[in-house]
Amino acid sequence: MNGAAPALAVEGLCVALGGRQVLRNVSFELEAGEFCALIGSNGSGKTTLLRAILGFIPIDSGRIGLDGDAPGAAGRIGYVPQKIALDPSLPLRARDVVALGLDGARLGPPLPSKRRTAQVEQMLQAVGAAGFADQRVGLLSGGQQQRVLVAHALVRRPRLLLLDEPLANLDVRSTAEIVALLRRLSREYGAAVLLSAHDMNPLLPAMDRIVYLANGSAVAGRADEVVRTEVLSSLYGYHVDVVRVHGRVVVVAAEARDEIRDAVARDPVHTAPVP
Ligand SMILES: Nc1ncnc2c1ncn2[C@@H]1O[C@H](COP(=O)(O)OP(=O)(O)OP(=O)(O)O)[C@@H](O)[C@H]1O
Ligand SMILES: [Mg+2]
Repeated sequence: MNGAAPALAVEGLCVALGGRQVLRNVSFELEAGEFCALIGSNGSGKTTLLRAILGFIPIDSGRIGLDGDAPGAAGRIGYVPQKIALDPSLPLRARDVVALGLDGARLGPPLPSKRRTAQVEQMLQAVGAAGFADQRVGLLSGGQQQRVLVAHALVRRPRLLLLDEPLANLDVRSTAEIVALLRRLSREYGAAVLLSAHDMNPLLPAMDRIVYLANGSAVAGRADEVVRTEVLSSLYGYHVDVVRVHGRVVVVAAEARDEIRDAVARDPVHTAPVP
């Protein structure tokens, strides 16, 4: 095995959908065990990038390398999609959803039941979901459901875990807990984690790297290299300011800066402006 190969290598990726260029020359790499935030405002191309990595949509040019191009690597990506509506009447317990991650997509005889049960149990413990494992998944809170979905995606021990806006609709506490959980699991399981969000703030203390998308173009690196006025202005193609207010980082177009500064001062928790 090639131990030095990155878990994910995206090189010069271009994707057009419906005749429109959605991703332009996107390049970055993720090592095993790294926790990476994919940040961008609505429509910037986050979901498109994740779906291209999964092989769900064709790419126009560029290259996506998984695990040093190991055979079958594309089928072993863990994925939590952006919108999952779990109906309260769905007759599945949390532990059933995790078990489906183990062999739900597998044809042929199921895994031996003892081994299967042990793997599911271990994963439920790892994400802190053992206490509600027998409840109907549709009746769990948003934060509890996220834990179950993370367990579902991780139970087969993927080298790459993609999560599309898993923090949407979570309160401040659940957000911090899920971020800490993902960061810990990425280290423990040696999985590269790529997590999309429109607000980078809850992720700043945890992220090893950031991929910042604007209008389909990306800049990648460590947060202190990327989240800078000159770097993001160059990405947007017009001047933006990286402003720190009340311990939060906000990226604002110059003309909106004073307005946003006042809004954040009034409501530091709920205002998350984007240019
Ligand atoms: N199948 C499609 N055909 C045409 N355009 C598409 C298609 N899918 C996405 N797009 C466009 O591509 C752009 C990026 O969409 P995408 O869903 O990747 O953004 P996003 O960053 O995930 O946004 P959000 O934060 O709202 O989830 C949008 O302008 C969208 O309208
Ligand atoms: Mg999206």
